[in-house]
Amino acid sequence: MDTSIFEHRESEIRGYCRAYPTVFTAASNARQTDEQGRSYLDFFAGAGVLNFGHNNERMKRAVIRFLEDDGVVHSLDMYTDVKRAFIERFVEVVLEPRGMDHRLQFMGPTGTNAVEAALKLARRVTGRHEIVAFGRGFHGMTLGALALTANDYFRQAGGVPLAHVTRLPFETEPGGGLKALEEYRSRIEDPSSGLNPPAAFVVEVIQAEGGVNVATAEWLHAVQDLAHDLGALFVIDDIQAGCGRTGSYFSFDGMGLDPDIVTLAKGVGGFGTPMAMNLNKPEHDARWSPGEHTGTFRGQGISFVAGREALEYFTDDDLMDAVTAKGQRMRDRLQTLADAHGDKGWEVRGRGMMQGLDVVDGGFAKAVQTAAFEAGLLIGPCGSGGRVLKLIPPLTIPDDDLDDGLDLLAGAIDTALGAA
Ligand SMILES: Cc1ncc(COP(=O)(O)O)c(C=O)c1O
Repeated sequence: MDTSIFEHRESEIRGYCRAYPTVFTAASNARQTDEQGRSYLDFFAGAGVLNFGHNNERMKRAVIRFLEDDGVVHSLDMYTDVKRAFIERFVEVVLEPRGMDHRLQFMGPTGTNAVEAALKLARRVTGRHEIVAFGRGFHGMTLGALALTANDYFRQAGGVPLAHVTRLPFETEPGGGLKALEEYRSRIEDPSSGLNPPAAFVVEVIQAEGGVNVATAEWLHAVQDLAHDLGALFVIDDIQAGCGRTGSYFSFDGMGLDPDIVTLAKGVGGFGTPMAMNLNKPEHDARWSPGEHTGTFRGQGISFVAGREALEYFTDDDLMDAVTAKGQRMRDRLQTLADAHGDKGWEVRGRGMMQGLDVVDGGFAKAVQTAAFEAGLLIGPCGSGGRVLKLIPPLTIPDDDLDDGLDLLAGAIDTALGAA
């Protein structure tokens, strides 16, 4: 296995490849193969991009057909037939059944760009600059989104003060919950509090990178009410928890929430090809002027084709029922592991097929990740100090692979405990 070109010529910024030091050559559904022909079960799924598996057969066929027909792969944001087909299907399958009349805004195809666009729009609509974000939140690496991201390692790399953000504790953080929201309300309603009124509250329903922290519907409603009472927009960042990950299209489905803006990216392009998209309430969206948040890659034909195919998974309950069942299977297994090590204070958190095992100690989580890799399983730690083992396999993973991966995880935990 020759990795020298990466080590000598690729930037020091290399990240995931350090945790998974091999050269991958092929991938299918929940498995990846390396140059040595070694197969790995993928419980990381491109950090939540590959909800429908690597090289999803249906999407691959559609993409090959599109390429063979000389479809328009790149179009800036010009109208194309495949973009129309994607939008029409998204409206039919996702928006109309939920009574959502949001407009679809495409931007440069990364999550952080979607967050930037949401911030600009909220600031435009309200004429304010302050944004309320939450502890442990993760929203991306560009300066606006980075200002919302809580993790100090990433913030330090920004190199400039990250301003215009009021930080409140997330529901599950020490000092969080309804009381913290009420305290903020009473402070900001005091004309001498010195606080700037916010343009938006930006929140993840389940903080993914932040450690699989799950908010309740009650708390999210309180955030939404507070936002609206203060004349601010309520923005849900569903970039990692959306697109079916939690057992429904949006992570907030069934909660009766009414977000002004929803940010989507990662899984929305279906095939692992990039796309980002915000859903803006029409009265807010009307405040944009043409091209104000422009970008070269806002019309990725392959992503529209594959993303449209992905929507077919949401026309019946089959995949979402399977996600609920597999999510429970993951949760039960993690709970068994936590119970088996009851003295260590481990905790299982998550919903659907985003489940985390908080092993309290980041060094230990890292040792488990390494042992898992050596045993043939890809997992990614997250959370404060990297203490949470997050499992986000493709939603399409076969039951046997899921069970095998959970067995490998249990073995990796034993290996890491043995080495400790
Ligand atoms: C909730 C959330 N928002 C935003 C982002 C940033 O997305 P990207 O890495 O595509 O810029 C991420 C990435 O992990 C995320 O999980």
